Amino acid sequence: MLTIKKRIACRIAASVEKSFGQGTLTEQDVLSMLEYPPDDKMGDLALPCFKLSRTLRNAPPRIAAAIAEDFSDEAVARVEVVGGYVNLYLDGAYLVRHMLAEVADKKDTYGSPNEGNGRVVVFDYSSPNLAKPFHIGHLGTTVIGHSLKKLHEFAGYRCVGINYVGDWGTQFGKLIVAYKKWGDRETVENGGVDALVDLYVKINNAISGNEAQGIPADPALADEARAEFCKMEQGDEENLALWRWLVKLSLKANDEIYRQLGITFDSYKGESNYTNEMPAQVARLRDMGLLKLDDGASIVDLEAYGMPPCLILKRDGSSLYPTRDIAAAYDRKQMYHFDKSVYVTSAGQSLHFAQWFKVVELMGYDWADQLVHVPYGTVSINGAKLATRTGNVILLRDLFAIATEKVAGIMEEKNPNLENKEAIAEQIGVGAIVFYYLSNSRMKDINFVMEDALSFDGNTGPYVQYTYARASSILAKAERVADASEIVVTAPEEAALAKVLASFEEKVKEALDTYEPSVIARYILSVAAAFNRFYHNCTILGAEDESVKATRVALTAAVKTVLGNAFDLICLHKTEKI
Ligand code: ARG
Repeated sequence: MLTIKKRIACRIAASVEKSFGQGTLTEQDVLSMLEYPPDDKMGDLALPCFKLSRTLRNAPPRIAAAIAEDFSDEAVARVEVVGGYVNLYLDGAYLVRHMLAEVADKKDTYGSPNEGNGRVVVFDYSSPNLAKPFHIGHLGTTVIGHSLKKLHEFAGYRCVGINYVGDWGTQFGKLIVAYKKWGDRETVENGGVDALVDLYVKINNAISGNEAQGIPADPALADEARAEFCKMEQGDEENLALWRWLVKLSLKANDEIYRQLGITFDSYKGESNYTNEMPAQVARLRDMGLLKLDDGASIVDLEAYGMPPCLILKRDGSSLYPTRDIAAAYDRKQMYHFDKSVYVTSAGQSLHFAQWFKVVELMGYDWADQLVHVPYGTVSINGAKLATRTGNVILLRDLFAIATEKVAGIMEEKNPNLENKEAIAEQIGVGAIVFYYLSNSRMKDINFVMEDALSFDGNTGPYVQYTYARASSILAKAERVADASEIVVTAPEEAALAKVLASFEEKVKEALDTYEPSVIARYILSVAAAFNRFYHNCTILGAEDESVKATRVALTAAVKTVLGNAFDLICLHKTEKI
C-alpha cells in the first residue's frame, strides 16, 4: 500500500502544482495528509483539503475538484469529490496483483519497513526479581519486550535482548533469613521455586503480620534480612554460596516459561554484576559535585526538574536500584555501542526511570537521550489485584498450565485424532494468554478473564491461530499458485482481503513508532476477519475456473505469509494443524 500511496501522493502534488502554481505542496506533504476513510463507502484513501485552503487560497471543495479533475492512475478505479475531500477508490484487480507480487517476492521479510540499517538497539525486558515468584505481573514486560525486540529486528535493527535479572537486593536477605529459620536443603532442592515462594510468603507474612492468619508483625525480622544482605554485599562466603544456589533454582524455573513462550535472551547479566562497576559512577557523580548528603544517604537533587531526589547510596553505603541501573547502562554503552536502549517495565517504575535518565544526562553522558522507557499498565485476574508479598499471586506457570489443559479439552472434542496433541495444546494455550494480553494497548489496565482468552470464536489467540492453521491446510491440498499474468479478481472479498494484507508494513511502522505490539495483535485480527469472510464467500479449491482457483490459492498463501510474519512479531506459534 505504501508504494501505491506514494505514487498517488506524487500525482496529487503534481496536479496541485499545475492548478495552483509551483512549490506549493511536496509529495511528502500529501503523503502525510492521505487518510484511510473510516468506511469503505468513502473510498480506500482520502485526501482532506481543509488544511490546504490557506496556502492555496481557495475553498477546500474547489481544491478537491481541481485535484480530482485530471487524476489518472492505474491503481485507482474512481475518484469522487465530497465536500472538501477527494475520495479515491482503488482498482481491486490492480491491488491484488500488486500485493501478491510483493508478498511472493519478499516472503518472510514482507511488511518490513527496513529502516534499521544495522543500528543497534538494546532491550532490557522480563528482568524478574529472582527468589520471588514469576507471576502474571511479569507477563507484560516479557511479551511486550520480546515483541519490541522482534519488531526492531524485523525492521533491520541489530538487537540485543538483556534479561537484567534482579539477582541482588534485600529480597535475598529475607529469603536467607527464612531459609535459615524454616528451610532445609532437601525440601528446597526438591520443591524448587514452589518451596522458595513458600519461604518468601512466610517471611513477608512474619515481617508485616497477617491478621487473618493470626500472625503478629515482627519488624525485627526485616532488620535481620537487611543484615544478611549486608553480609552478602561484604562478601560473606556462607551467604554468597546460599545466594548462588537460590539464583540457580530461580533461573531454572524461569527457563521453562521462556521455553513455552519461545523466548531466548542474548545476556543474563543481572544486577549483581554491577557491584564492582558502581563505584566508578559514584565517583564521577561526586567529582562533578552532583552528590548531596541527605540524612547520611547520598542523593542527586532533582528538584529543579520537578522530581524527588534520586537515591544513590544508602546510609550504610550499600547500593541502590538507580545506582545499579546507571552502572549497567554505562556498561551496555561500552559493550554494545547502542543507538537506543529500551527498558520495558510497569508504569509503576516510570519515576525511577525518569530520575536516573536525568542523572545520566547531568553526568554529561551524550547517550542520555538514547535511553527509552516503555511502561505498561497493571494486570488483575477476574478482578482481583495481585501482590507477591502476601502470596496472592498467580504464577505464570500455573496460568499457562490451566490454559493448556482447557485447550486440550476443547481440542479433544474438535479433533481427537490430531498428532502431537500435547505440544499443540501448549502452543495454543500459551498463545491465548499472550494474545489476550497483547491485544490491549500497553498502558491499559487489564483484567484477565480466562474464558474470554480461551474462546475459539471471539477475537482471541485460538481464533487467529486456528485461522493460520486453516490457511495452511488449504495450501497443503492446493496444487499450484497463480503467477502474475494469470491473476483474475472476481469477488469483492478478494480485493478487500488484499487491501488488508497490503497495509501490513504501515502497521509494523506504527507499532515501532509507538512501541505498541497491540497494533500488530489488532492487525492480525483484521487479517483473520478478512480471510474468514473471503473463505466463507468464495470457493477456493472447488472453484471451477482454473485461474480463479489459482488466484484464490495465491491469496491464501499470502495470508499465511503475512499472518506468519505477524505471529513471529508477538510470540505466537505458527501451528499448522490444530
Ligand atoms: N527487576 C525489576 C523488577 O522486577 C525490573 C528491572 C527492570 N530493568 C531495569 N533496568 N531496571 O521490578
